[in-house]
Amino acid sequence: MLVTAVPSRISKEVGAWRGRGLRVGFVPTMGALHEGHASLIRRAVAENDRVVVSIFVNPLQFGPKEDLSRYPRPFAADAAVCRREGAAALYHPSPESMYAPGFRTRVEVEGLSELHCGASRPGHFRGVATVVLKLLNQVRPHALYLGEKDFQQLSILRRLAVDLDLGVDVVGCRLVRAPDGLALSSRNAYLSEEERRAAPALHAALRAGAREARRRGAGPASVVRAARAELARERLFRRDYLVLVDEGTLLPPPALQGKLRLLAAAWIGNTRLIDNQPVRV
Ligand code: PAF
Repeated sequence: MLVTAVPSRISKEVGAWRGRGLRVGFVPTMGALHEGHASLIRRAVAENDRVVVSIFVNPLQFGPKEDLSRYPRPFAADAAVCRREGAAALYHPSPESMYAPGFRTRVEVEGLSELHCGASRPGHFRGVATVVLKLLNQVRPHALYLGEKDFQQLSILRRLAVDLDLGVDVVGCRLVRAPDGLALSSRNAYLSEEERRAAPALHAALRAGAREARRRGAGPASVVRAARAELARERLFRRDYLVLVDEGTLLPPPALQGKLRLLAAAWIGNTRLIDNQPVRV
C-alpha cells in the first residue's frame, strides 16, 4: 500500500493507474476509522480496481469552539485498517500542504448548506465542500464513496458533483450501527460509559418517528412529535434538531409522500451526535 502525504505523488500514482485503464475508487475520511469506514473501503474495493483512502482532519470544517485539536488521530491503527481492507493508497496531506499561505477560495452549495447541521455549525459545509473538491482534484477518482450517516453532507456533495461537472460517481453507502443501534462515529470515542449506554436513544427516537409514519392518520407533524417525545425520554440528551425532510430537497414535506427521512442531531454531555432514518409510508 502506498502511503503518502504529498499531493503530487497521489496525483501521479492515480494518473498512472488511470492510464492503464484501471477504475479508481476514493474514500475521503478524517481518520479514527471504525467499521463504518471499513465498510466504505470494502465496497470501494469490490467495485474498483484500485482504492485510495484519504485521512485529513480538515480545519476548515471545524468551528472555533469545536473539537479540532482533540479530534482522535490514531494514524498507525488507521493505516492498518486501510491495509487490511485492501486499499491501494493512503493519502494523508498536512494542513500546510492543503491550505498554503494565501489560500482564499471557498466552495458553497447554497440552499442545502445552511439547513439543519449547517444552522448549528455555520461554515461547516463550506469547509467540507471546499476540501472534498480539492481532494477530488488531487486524487481524480472515478467514484467517491460516502456514508449515509452524514446524510446532509452526502446530499451536498452529490449536488457539488453535478453542479461543477466533476465527472465522479457519488456512491452513498448504508449507515453502520453498533448492535444496540448507535450509529458508528469517530465521536463515539468521547462518550463516558453512562453516555454510551444512553446514546442508542437517538436511534430509538428516529425509529419511533418512522413507526408513527406507518399509522393510519399520521402526518409529518405527528411523525416529528413522536420522535421528539421519544428522544425527550432520555434525560442525558439535549436536542439540537430533529426534523422530517424530503430526501431530495432536505426541506419538510407537505405530506407523508415520497422519499422522506428523519434527520437529527443531539448533544449528550459535550458530544454532538447525528443520526438519520428513512421514512417509508
Ligand atoms: O465525513 C467526513 O469524514 C468529512 O466530512 C470528509 C468528507 C472526509 C471531508 O473532510
